[in-house]
Amino acid sequence: MKVSIIGGGGRVGSNAAFCLQCAGIVSEIQLLDANREMAEGEALDLIHGASSLADQRIYEGDFERARDSDVFVITAGLRRKPDESRLDLINRNVGLFSQVIGDIKSAGTKDEAIVFVVSNPVDILTHLAVSFLDLPPGQVIGLGTMLDTARFRSLIANDLKLAPTQVKALILGEHGDTMLPVWSSATVGGLPLAEVAGCDQNFQRSIFERTKKSGAEVISRKGGAGWAVGATIAEVIHAIALDRKQLLPVSTLQQGTYGLRDVCLSVPSTVGRKGVEAHLELKLWPKEEQALKASSKALQAMLASVAS
Ligand code: 2OP
Repeated sequence: MKVSIIGGGGRVGSNAAFCLQCAGIVSEIQLLDANREMAEGEALDLIHGASSLADQRIYEGDFERARDSDVFVITAGLRRKPDESRLDLINRNVGLFSQVIGDIKSAGTKDEAIVFVVSNPVDILTHLAVSFLDLPPGQVIGLGTMLDTARFRSLIANDLKLAPTQVKALILGEHGDTMLPVWSSATVGGLPLAEVAGCDQNFQRSIFERTKKSGAEVISRKGGAGWAVGATIAEVIHAIALDRKQLLPVSTLQQGTYGLRDVCLSVPSTVGRKGVEAHLELKLWPKEEQALKASSKALQAMLASVAS
């Protein structure tokens, strides 16, 4: 399977490429970037490590060469400033993003291609991509709250001295200020997380706040996320490549799940070779469902401000 990473010369794109190389599941990785020399340098650096990692074709190329991609990952975009919300980024990134979508469209894609949006504000840009591209909505996916969910699970495990891979706890809604934690279905090793010593209301409140602020926390220290976002990008791509039908909190156009429509945000979604194949209306506590609806409202208001 061929993956083209638009923004592959940047931190997020190159870290995602490295995660794909370490797993060795996809067969071809193309890096595209406005800074071609940087993308060439990243491709070269990855190629140098190939003999220790995986047998793949890795190269820098343009949109013409990317036409045969199975997945287009869009990480290109300006990074958020530490005190800037993701939605504040919107006007700075919408113009750049529309150019990228236009380039993909004019070069052409396979009918079954998946467009995978990472650039922020990811839910808004995913919505713009769905409207601009002639692909079925399930084939336009946003990273959504995958990274927030990964952070949430890892931070919980770190504080409660649990195995991170065994902690299953979802963040849904907007990848942004209105994201919501789903404690109602949180488990560790299949057992209710709420019953683990230390996982009381105070802990739950503080770990969620820490999760929400994690993006800004990383930005203020190292300028922006890279490894964790690369790992979650690879997780979604591998669910597509292996047709895993995994339930992942990715962002797609909602078509009635939880009564939500005309908005892109994260709900539990089945991810396989065709992209998002179904949305699952997981039973939520009333306060969780209210928070999800509030998240949807906030995103629709933001979308309207972009559209106008
Ligand atoms: C983050 O949360 C980049 O939005 C991304 O770090």
